Amino acid sequence: MRILVIGSGGREHALVWKLAQSPKVEALYCAPGNPGMLRQARCLPIKTDDIDGLMHFATRKGIDLTVVGPEQPLTLGIADRFREAGLRMIGPSKAAAEIEASKAFSKSFMDRHRIPTARAQVFDEPESAIRYVKERGAPLVVKADGLAAGKGVVIAQNEAEAVRAIDLIMRRKAFGAAGSRVVLEDRLEGEEVSFLIFTDGKTIIPMVTSQDHKRVFDQDQGPNTGGMGAYSPAPVFTEELQRRVLREIVRPAIDGLAREGRPYQGILYAGLMLTSDGPKVLEYNARFGDPETQVILTRLETDLVEIFEALTTGTLDGLQVRWSPKVSVCVVLAAKGYPATYETGRFITGIDEAESKNGVAVFHAGTFLHDGGLVTAGGRVLGVTAVGDDFQQARERAYDAVSRIRFEGMHCRMDIGLKAMARSG
Ligand code: AMP
Ligand code: GLY
Repeated sequence: MRILVIGSGGREHALVWKLAQSPKVEALYCAPGNPGMLRQARCLPIKTDDIDGLMHFATRKGIDLTVVGPEQPLTLGIADRFREAGLRMIGPSKAAAEIEASKAFSKSFMDRHRIPTARAQVFDEPESAIRYVKERGAPLVVKADGLAAGKGVVIAQNEAEAVRAIDLIMRRKAFGAAGSRVVLEDRLEGEEVSFLIFTDGKTIIPMVTSQDHKRVFDQDQGPNTGGMGAYSPAPVFTEELQRRVLREIVRPAIDGLAREGRPYQGILYAGLMLTSDGPKVLEYNARFGDPETQVILTRLETDLVEIFEALTTGTLDGLQVRWSPKVSVCVVLAAKGYPATYETGRFITGIDEAESKNGVAVFHAGTFLHDGGLVTAGGRVLGVTAVGDDFQQARERAYDAVSRIRFEGMHCRMDIGLKAMARSG
């Protein structure tokens, strides 16, 4: 098979890395990809939002299957266009991807289908939003309605902060058009976990559980990031809780979307808060998570191409997906300044040495080849991922590999997986 992966981050590198292990793969392409993938795939200079360019390439090269990493092409309708042209695609239609693209849609959808989530209201004008803040009181979570690259969420501890956030999002348009509406949501308390599934629209196959680390500093301090690391499984997310999430959160979403004329095919990612009152949805994503994918796919034993084929042909029900009982830990190495303005163009050394260690894979996220050398080109630069028999071993392997890698201004969290280690004893 000839497979095209769309995207350029660590998530896409992990997808390419796993797909390359399949005996079914004859050629692997990534658009635009990154230098880490060059051993496994050909990278193409086509942007992820250039749907015409991607269609043209897929048709010309006879691509058998396309996998979309990021949400943006999905919300532009790439899956609809590819399917109309008879091209097989892993990812939901534009209508189904609304579940991620519009928080207002997603919240009202959850209400209609009685899916547990924080109580929320949607506002089109700042004045009424501010009135609600005064009525409801703090803490409140203020969210821009549309996609804001994970940055359009403010957890306001008091009313003044909530009002400032509304002003920033709605009047000063800090996130552009994404902020013409806001969602004001009650704050949930508990531990956050990620639950991803494969679905062909009928059958649901859960992936192993994982947990992201969103804040930039150890012990969840400092500003939010795109994700500073992840581990799998998440011991706090017991099998009983997973069954409950499938029953109360995932199944109703897939069935509800189908009933509303938006059948869902692809990967659904539920971001959950495990509250004292049961699991509740923070958000749905219409795609794989980053860096969750790095720890999930390093535990997948089944051929990913087999899963994707079954997904596109509606035959997931016949498939047994096997996962490794080992654990996986991914430590993100970030550039100086990240998540605010960060440096780029710093030379990176030590990746080969890091990768020569047992159980280690280094996924590139923000790298670039310059004069034959590898340099930093993004805020999140690398995802150093290690599997081990338990969290202690996986952490030791990951941090030993991290210690081999150098670039100026490099920083990472030192506590990835510690919470899981404490829990699993
Ligand atoms: P979202 O994009 O909606 O997932 O929000 C981004 C992050 O903000 C989440 O991963 C949570 O850490 C936090 N968050 C969002 N909504 C809530 C909420 N209702 N209560 C507490 N934290 C929240
Ligand atoms: N790890 C968070 C996300 O992919 O949205």
